[in-house]
Amino acid sequence: MCRVCGGPVRQFFDFGRQPLSDAFVHPERVDDEYFYRLAVGSCESCGMTQLMDEVARDRMFHEAYPYHSSGSAHMRRHFEQTAGRLSRAHLRGRDPFVVEIGCNDGVMLRALAKEGIRHLGVEPSGGVADLARQQGVRVLTEFFEESTAAAIVAADGPADLVYSANTICHIPYLDSVFRGLDRLLAPDGAFVFEDPYLGDILDRTSFDQIYDEHFYFFTVRSVSAAATRFGFEVVDVERLPVHGGEVRYTLKRAGRSTPSPAVAELIAEEDRKGIGTPEVFAAFAAGVERVRTELTALLRGLRAEGKRIVGYGATAKSATVTNFCGIGPESIDWVCDVTPAKHGKLMPGSHIPVRPTEALTDPYPDYAVLFAWNHAEEIMAKERLFRESGGRWIVYVPEVRVL
Ligand code: SAM
Ligand code: TMP
Ligand code: ZN
Repeated sequence: MCRVCGGPVRQFFDFGRQPLSDAFVHPERVDDEYFYRLAVGSCESCGMTQLMDEVARDRMFHEAYPYHSSGSAHMRRHFEQTAGRLSRAHLRGRDPFVVEIGCNDGVMLRALAKEGIRHLGVEPSGGVADLARQQGVRVLTEFFEESTAAAIVAADGPADLVYSANTICHIPYLDSVFRGLDRLLAPDGAFVFEDPYLGDILDRTSFDQIYDEHFYFFTVRSVSAAATRFGFEVVDVERLPVHGGEVRYTLKRAGRSTPSPAVAELIAEEDRKGIGTPEVFAAFAAGVERVRTELTALLRGLRAEGKRIVGYGATAKSATVTNFCGIGPESIDWVCDVTPAKHGKLMPGSHIPVRPTEALTDPYPDYAVLFAWNHAEEIMAKERLFRESGGRWIVYVPEVRVL
């Protein structure tokens, strides 16, 4: 049943039993992993694409949540620019107030904090919330939902802007989020959020965007339908090149302002492409199977030739790829990543060891699978020596290729 409208959800892909994507395993506790069924479908009534099963939120977001938004220089720049743009577009009055849902380590809010703008980050994962505090960001360690919004408005007054990046798609209880926004936002306040775009996921067969934390896969059409249901309206949309293709949505209370033409244009494009139709989802499913076949054949062949293969980026996304494709330490020796909390651990399910990025050094391996493909430019520039020493990158989005 659809988590937004209660309508029937038609499943279009089942990845089977999967571990939590960010639950890196201590080498001495390999028998203690939690698995769930990862399957995805689309609502036949409102068009919202969503997971078929929900993982309890505190299993995923807790004190030791290992994803640090500031791990990428490119994303640090993206959020610094975002802070400037948000501030110019939405924070005009005297003493404006901004709330960010899922502020993580403060990658965006620290720029506003530096400007002395009144703000509050809502971040349930205690470890990253503390990192944000160290950056001068004010943080409430809670899940955003209706009761949290009520407490914030009681203490701080209404918000002129509520912003969220890569978090709203993580929240199955959208009804509670919208009721919360209705309480928290000033009458003319804006809700701006950005998340991976289903249009790009389908175009690029980036099936690794599908994992426990990504509950929803938004389109402008499905977000508009949800907004309408809760008394809001999408007044602007913008495509973003980050994380493999996202859309930034601006919502206001319904009837407050005239939607920009971009909204209807992107909906028309989605309809033209047939997003939401069984045929388009069937083509995606065939694409996923093709990537699995080609990637596993490539790795098997290279191993048979005695090649050394590693992975780059112990991403949440890679949990789906490795576990769905059955890729483990027999083909990938280790995966390197900048995040200290992941070092010395094993990748969830596949149990490939995680090392610091300094592990990628002379003598270089023959191949590196770029699991953090959304950061390709940044990583390839940083690891130029690997390529210059004869190392080759393996990518699998939008198709399996050796670069
Ligand atoms: N905004 C950052 C970015 O774009 O890099 C962080 C994104 S991270 C993938 C998702 C964050 O949302 C996590 O830090 C998680 O703890 C937080 N989160 C999950 N559910 C939430 C909720 N109900 N309210 C607020 N934050 C939540
Ligand atoms: P993400 O795709 O969800 O943002 O995750 C990216 C992962 O890749 C994260 O664990 C950090 C890691 N990473 C590196 O190891 N080196 C890098 O240069 C970048 C940009 C990310
Ligand atoms: Zn629905």
